[in-house]
Amino acid sequence: MKNQFSIESFIKKIPKAELHLHIEGTFEPELMFKIAKRNNIKLRYQSIEELKEAYNFSNLQDFLDIYYQGAEVLIKEQDFYDMTLSYLEKIYSQNVLHAEIFFDPQIHTDRGIKFSTVINGIYNALVDAKEKMGITSKLIMCFLRHLDEESAMRTLKQALPYKDWIIAVGLDSSEIGNPPSRFKKVFEQARKEGFLTVAHAGEEGPAEYIREALNLLKVSRIDHGNRALDDENLVMELVQKQMPLTVCPLSNLKLAVVDKLENHPLKIMMKKGLYVTVNSDDPAYFGGYLNENYLEVQKALNLTKDDIYKLARNSFQASFLDESEKRKLLDELEEFTKQY
Ligand code: ADE
Ligand code: ZN
Repeated sequence: MKNQFSIESFIKKIPKAELHLHIEGTFEPELMFKIAKRNNIKLRYQSIEELKEAYNFSNLQDFLDIYYQGAEVLIKEQDFYDMTLSYLEKIYSQNVLHAEIFFDPQIHTDRGIKFSTVINGIYNALVDAKEKMGITSKLIMCFLRHLDEESAMRTLKQALPYKDWIIAVGLDSSEIGNPPSRFKKVFEQARKEGFLTVAHAGEEGPAEYIREALNLLKVSRIDHGNRALDDENLVMELVQKQMPLTVCPLSNLKLAVVDKLENHPLKIMMKKGLYVTVNSDDPAYFGGYLNENYLEVQKALNLTKDDIYKLARNSFQASFLDESEKRKLLDELEEFTKQY
């Protein structure tokens, strides 16, 4: 790699993929107020500024309470479409070539919104973004782990007619007290139906939840995984399996998983040989999209261009694209590094 460009410009321009992104977490206050107005919904905050002031979280639950409230203004297919397209336009400007996007249908179906309304709105935006901007994407349907397994099972049934649009199922929401073992049956059923599986584990919860996600839910990736570092044997297993961990630096900072970015474990994880990627989680709430995550963690941990290159390469390699699509994006990455 040549050296004439600053690391900031290198980060902004390098082709990359996003593998851990909640579409409801991309809902920017400006768009939220606009959609609330057109749906005649009164938000409990008087202004965008007042809403933004509430984005001061002490932990995951603090954030989730506000995140679920924000999603309540989404009613029509057009609302889901607008939110999704707005995210895709944003990442187009950040050289994100591929995105694997979580959605939380239960947030909406529990309020009486049809599953079809949610998924049609999101999916149509993905199709349009592919056509207009060339961004490829996959959808991952998450089950809310604070709800019971029966609710997850009903959600899985609702998803079956849309099987071709959804690559995997995932597990998110309040982690502590809601171990992966509670969802063993629904994940088993999802795998039988042909879905891949992922799960949030080891964000706030213990290393044992990561073991459960691997052994009981048979995941292909772990979302977050920070707490794996508490258990050396687990680290060795994750390294040996080359299990991808979708790490989210700014999320970890905003939800107090780390006290400052300088103490983020990303670099230690890389040194141990863990297969990590950098992601934005809920960018509208955590103050940064994918490039800001790379930029801020690079600065805090003094990552090199080679580290950034490895993270970008991992993001394509750990994706759920098929081998030929992966090859194409990896070739674009190689082309880029020749110039830089
Ligand atoms: N839902 C949205 N963001 C989440 C996170 N960081 N952890 C768990 N559930 C979530
Ligand atoms: Zn997440």
